[in-house]
Amino acid sequence: MKDQDITDLSWDDFDELRDPRPDANGFDAVVERAISRRGFLGGALAFGSGALAMGAGAAGLMSSTTAARAETSGFAFKPIGIATDFDIHVPEGYQWKVLVRWGDPLFSDAASAYSPVAGVDVAKSDRVFGENTDGMELFTDGDKQIITVNSEYVNPKINLPEASEGMPQTADEVTLLKNMQGVTVMEVADKGNGYEVVVDSPYNRRITHETQMTMDGPAAGADLVKTNADPEGMSPKGTMNNCGSGKTLWGTYLTCEENFNGYFGATGEYEATDGLKRYGIGGEGRYAYEKFDPRYDLSKEPNEPHRHGWVTEINPLDPSSTPVKHTALGRFKHENAEMVQAKDGRVVVYMGDDERGEFMYKFVSNGVYTEGGSTEGLLSDGTLYVAKFNDDMTGEWLPLTPESTGMSMEELLVFSRMAGSKVGATTMDRPEWIAANPLKCEAYCALTNNKNRGVKPNAGGDATPATGPNPRETNNYGQIVRWKPAGEDHGATEFAWDLYVMAGNPTVYDNAYAGSENVNEGNMFNSPDGMAFSSDGYLWIQTDGDYSNEGEFEGHGNNQMLIGNTDTGEIARFLTAPNKSEVTGLCWSADKKVAFVGIQHPGGSWPDGAGKPRSSVIAVWREDGALIG
Ligand code: FEO
Ligand code: CA
Ligand code: CA
Repeated sequence: MKDQDITDLSWDDFDELRDPRPDANGFDAVVERAISRRGFLGGALAFGSGALAMGAGAAGLMSSTTAARAETSGFAFKPIGIATDFDIHVPEGYQWKVLVRWGDPLFSDAASAYSPVAGVDVAKSDRVFGENTDGMELFTDGDKQIITVNSEYVNPKINLPEASEGMPQTADEVTLLKNMQGVTVMEVADKGNGYEVVVDSPYNRRITHETQMTMDGPAAGADLVKTNADPEGMSPKGTMNNCGSGKTLWGTYLTCEENFNGYFGATGEYEATDGLKRYGIGGEGRYAYEKFDPRYDLSKEPNEPHRHGWVTEINPLDPSSTPVKHTALGRFKHENAEMVQAKDGRVVVYMGDDERGEFMYKFVSNGVYTEGGSTEGLLSDGTLYVAKFNDDMTGEWLPLTPESTGMSMEELLVFSRMAGSKVGATTMDRPEWIAANPLKCEAYCALTNNKNRGVKPNAGGDATPATGPNPRETNNYGQIVRWKPAGEDHGATEFAWDLYVMAGNPTVYDNAYAGSENVNEGNMFNSPDGMAFSSDGYLWIQTDGDYSNEGEFEGHGNNQMLIGNTDTGEIARFLTAPNKSEVTGLCWSADKKVAFVGIQHPGGSWPDGAGKPRSSVIAVWREDGALIG
């Protein structure tokens, strides 16, 4: 494959390069198998049928908690149709505007850093908002509002001069790409004309692939994370491929390092260890970093990849604070980190590993959190568990320990995937965001899709049968699994599960690929990805899927954001995104009157109408000023 073609691949197709699949099974056989599971899924959906009362629509977004399962009868807003254009659409009575675009200044000295022709000037590239916005959270400091937001990856063809053909040709071009990714901390304020970034705010900060970090937990200082540049193994640099997010109970930001594997390459001989292979690391990097920076060169720093793939904590209120990589939470392609509390006060963090056939995890601290109390050790001392789902709709969290895995503590954290395989974790259909219901003890994980389900094993050789919460072979649509911990305690090791929704297309199929009963012609979507609960207990679902609007995706249109009533199962389309983009990242203003929504990798010239497409965060609100979150 030519160099420039690598950058056109999606991150999951990049994985396939490292781990190619055999020829696909016959499609007829695939559908036949899925049909036979339909009764099981019907039963699963009954699990959520309104036994517990929901919040009374405090946000004013929905009119009632009507139990009827007709098309979207329970929503106060009028659901919108699909779109195929290069614009944003929201329901009647709602408005939107751009909050911040790739290249917009965080500091006044970078006011002219972006040009529609040349993109961002490398000299100012760590003073502006990064590209490809993803997970974000809002924090408050008195009456100040601070959004912390990930810039997951870069599109080199948009950032680099045309002559570079999508691959850096100089060290400066590598620096530009490094600075366009990572994390942005920015103060925002409603200046009477909708929200804006507060340029030059003392909170404003960029964290990039070069920012100095520290590590804690059992793998910090381990031989596996020592490098020539950091012989103590305690001071990694940079956080990369920052995908989803999390917010701690004590008001800090968790950024989740996902497809870190793609940044490493080799300019010479290196040992292709099982650990590197399980994480898809080898060959050439996506951005040629290894040609200009030895830190990314496997033949020079073979342990550097072990220093990435962690959950990293950032204090958004202290611009001089050093981010901390928490090894106790395991190393994998972290999607997001949803923190809740066990009944006894211990901290619980749910996490997904977004690759076909990989696992779902949770971390449980040994110490307890009390408001205003010490947080020492709460993300460095505890137990990492991996999920096992049984076909009888029960499941358990299996502890990853030296006893259960035969691996040392350091190894099982650095190579969590291998530890999960050893204890028989359930291979999942690409776990994306996990969201916990604020009103009752249950959590949801978006299983975005998995074309390899029932077709080939995961990268560790674990089988991927179409069973349990991953019931469809060649699953191009995705589903959302929900679990209720035993004893209504997130600290419990047992749970019951069901499927909240199976995406599909009832206008094309009349089998399991039609989707579950709460999918209809009016709300079709595929590939659920971002998810968050609003404070009134509604589930906001963002998609990152096939936007061709053709074939088995006909009627799905562009990527979108939907809102789900988790009591009735109803789901209604709330927003459609510009063609080619995905919707990812969601948080609300402190007064809950504005939702901030991320639009990643848009096409055309959105939102400027001319020049380069610019990933952006938008603000959405109700014209009547009512709450929406
Ligand atoms: Fe970065 Fe799995 O999405
Ligand atoms: Ca995602
Ligand atoms: Ca995705």
